[in-house]
Amino acid sequence: MPDMMKALIQLQDGYSNTQTGPTVDDLSPYLAYQDHPVPTPGDGQALIKVHLASVNPSDIHFIKGEYGQPRIKGMPAGFEAVGEVVAGDTPLIGQRVSCYARGSGTWAEYALADISGLIPCRPDLAEPDAAGQLVNPLTAIAMFDLVKDSGADSFILNAAGSQLGKFLIALGRDQGIKPIAVVRRAAQAQVLRDLGAAEVIVTGDGNGLNQAKSILKTLKPLILLDAVGDQFTADLFFAMPKYARWVNYGKLSTEPPQLTQLGQLIFQHKVIEGFWLTQWMQHVAPERIAAAFGEIQERFVSGKWTTDVAGITPLSEAMDKLPALLEQPDGKAFIDPRK
Ligand SMILES: NC(=O)c1ccc[n+]([C@@H]2O[C@H](COP(=O)([O-])OP(=O)(O)OC[C@H]3O[C@@H](n4cnc5c(N)ncnc54)[C@H](OP(=O)(O)O)[C@@H]3O)[C@@H](O)[C@H]2O)c1
Repeated sequence: MPDMMKALIQLQDGYSNTQTGPTVDDLSPYLAYQDHPVPTPGDGQALIKVHLASVNPSDIHFIKGEYGQPRIKGMPAGFEAVGEVVAGDTPLIGQRVSCYARGSGTWAEYALADISGLIPCRPDLAEPDAAGQLVNPLTAIAMFDLVKDSGADSFILNAAGSQLGKFLIALGRDQGIKPIAVVRRAAQAQVLRDLGAAEVIVTGDGNGLNQAKSILKTLKPLILLDAVGDQFTADLFFAMPKYARWVNYGKLSTEPPQLTQLGQLIFQHKVIEGFWLTQWMQHVAPERIAAAFGEIQERFVSGKWTTDVAGITPLSEAMDKLPALLEQPDGKAFIDPRK
């Protein structure tokens, strides 16, 4: 095992108290490509030699100090990855696993993760699917439970062309619950219809809300899965039927919405709530999580889910290349620390 490794090291501590969204055109205020000691696993931890790390909106919120946990200056960034277990008190040594970093992040040659959270990967699971099988797929499965529990035979989701949105649409298609997709770019509409969206609403074309109202009247969804949090989303929620739940799980828009009809929470039993995978995992039965990963890997391998890859940057070039990769529509960016 080497003593030193290459990593993207965080330059900032704590929270920034800003809300600028998960976009970045220059990483240099937040990260530096540096030599860093290979971390030593503590009790219950494993050291992972990273094969491929994914880049999610949560990573960008995090390095900017806008996520649900504080930054630690001097530590590698990056939450999830696939790699090989190379140290730690676990029989998984030598195995390929998906992991979620704890303490020392995945945008590095080596990362630390809790042994209890390691997900062994089927040999036929592709590297990009394995690198991103935790954050988005598990969130899709968890939030789809809310959809099923609602009893309605449709649900509505925005940012529907995101990777997570596409996973949700495919779940709806396969389980007979009609997805109503909200996007901001008309170019995504046909792709999402082909994937299984029953309806596609395009915001910003002037008629989106009227179109939505007529769809809501017919399909009567009771769950709104919201990663955007803008005024259109609020207006959509207030147009939904009695007992509707607005489940906010992301803040892609920096616009603060006005809640114009709060009386609906009182008189129509409507609910506004948040969803965070980190908390869901702390409260759900461990067997549910294990079953979910069986389902996730089967869905990828059988082609029911696809990871769209915008591009893979070598770790050594990520400072320059990552912002442009994140600008690519309809695909995820990855970091390869072996290059
Ligand atoms: N709470 C949780 O536990 C949890 C877990 C996983 C993911 N998430 C959240 O889920 C969301 C999707 O993640 P992802 O990895 O699937 O994203 P992604 O594949 O990177 O895609 C991002 C999507 O967001 C859309 N978007 C960006 N800014 C927008 C805005 N202002 N208004 C409307 N749409 C906007 C983009 O649309 P264009 O193509 O038009 O640019 C794109 O389709 C993120 O907000 C992420 O933080 C939350």
